[in-house]
Amino acid sequence: MTDSGRPNILVVDDEQYICNIIEESLSADKCNTTALTDPKEALEYIENNPVDLVLTDLVMGEFSGVQILEAVQANHKDAIILLMTAHPTVQTAISVLKKGAYDFLVKPFKLEQLKAAIQRGLEHQRIRRDNLTLQGQVEFLKIVNATGAGVKIDKFLSMVTGSCMKELSAESAGIILIDPDTRDTVRKVIDRDTSPYREEVLDEGTILKFAYTRSTQPSIQAEQIIQPDNRRANKLVVSQPIFVRRKLHGVINLVVIRRFDEIPPGQLDVLAILTNALASAVANHKLYHDLRASYLQAIRGLANAVEARDAYTAGHTDRVCRLAELVARQMGWDEARIQHLIMGCTLHDMGKIGVPDSVLNKPGKLTDQERQLMQNHPNLGLKIIRGIDLFKPAIPFIIAHHEHYDGCGYPRGLKGERIPVEGRLLAVVDTFDAILSDRPYRRGASLQVAVSELVTNRGTQFDPVIVDIFMDLLRRGRINLREMYGCDADAAGIEVPQDSKKVRV
Ligand SMILES: [Fe+2]
Repeated sequence: MTDSGRPNILVVDDEQYICNIIEESLSADKCNTTALTDPKEALEYIENNPVDLVLTDLVMGEFSGVQILEAVQANHKDAIILLMTAHPTVQTAISVLKKGAYDFLVKPFKLEQLKAAIQRGLEHQRIRRDNLTLQGQVEFLKIVNATGAGVKIDKFLSMVTGSCMKELSAESAGIILIDPDTRDTVRKVIDRDTSPYREEVLDEGTILKFAYTRSTQPSIQAEQIIQPDNRRANKLVVSQPIFVRRKLHGVINLVVIRRFDEIPPGQLDVLAILTNALASAVANHKLYHDLRASYLQAIRGLANAVEARDAYTAGHTDRVCRLAELVARQMGWDEARIQHLIMGCTLHDMGKIGVPDSVLNKPGKLTDQERQLMQNHPNLGLKIIRGIDLFKPAIPFIIAHHEHYDGCGYPRGLKGERIPVEGRLLAVVDTFDAILSDRPYRRGASLQVAVSELVTNRGTQFDPVIVDIFMDLLRRGRINLREMYGCDADAAGIEVPQDSKKVRV
């Protein structure tokens, strides 16, 4: 189809007068018609020009219309083929229709019959093309919906590269995202790792094309290439900038190979819409992270405020985060879970903000009422953060870090595996740090005592598997005790005392 929407029709018949009649009769029908009497010339034409519909004689001397049909199918996958013959047989008709011809006209025919067959063929082609577009739009709608559906940015980027491949029939698609202020690359995504066009679609130089412009128009670089089958084609590198509030956030690069035409305007519109969806997703992602960072900063401030009320616990939260991360990595937690863990460990004692100073800093033994106040801090912490969706991953750390494996902990008295693993993990490292740190009611104990506490209460207060993992890390020198607690230990040589009391954290 031409840019003007006129179909490109090729007529092949070795009888000049038939070519003339058909060409003349179609000239009034808004078609670009080319009529050729030489089948060899027709084959060359088919190889080098866009064709929507071909009308060919079946017998042209020694040449068969089937050869034309096969050449059209090889070069123009959705072209319509109509065959004409003056010597019809049922077998011939069946045979050419089986080969993929759309219709079969018997000479002599009336021009109205011919026009009706051409119209039916073009209508059939239009419906087929519309169907493909609709299929593409369904994919596209999935992308647009995903923008607002909380799909993670990496998955979203993959969806966009996949959609570019389908919608623009690209050979390869890549996305480069940059920090709009520093221009440093922050993410690179490609449709597949094995793409032969990797260098082109992930070329950071494409960003520079848009460094000093706010034009959202794509840049298209064309290069003539010879394909493996020795045919000429155009290799187009399309770079579409991603702007968010007039700031450059990256680029989508596509490699597209076209034999005859440039990229149709409609496909570039699709690319522009996909880019807008991507820009929204990038903006949302940045907003989410900025918001998360602000919240974390605020909550870290609150955590510091809790620590400041009790000078003895200074640095406790940071050390617990570090120890917990070591154990979690050993347990194979992925990066997203580690981020939740850091959040949870930072917030785990948030509820102490509601415990009076007189209780929090009491040097002596707590009364029953004071103990109740103290033991309510997981519930209080939960109340503080419960309304903030962003901090939901911190809940199991906050609510379960004082539960005991044997069910004797608080606030719920959960037992064994019913205690969230987050709580079981935090319980081990929180207690370890608490024993080594000075507290209002006692001085920090030695490493031997801390280790003894974990081992003695392995399976009662603590999850035995997590204690084993922690001990293994200690023995292998994976915990920097010198930096964290100012003590050295040949962990393998630590003697474990047999008797120890449970510790208040
Ligand atoms: Fe606590």
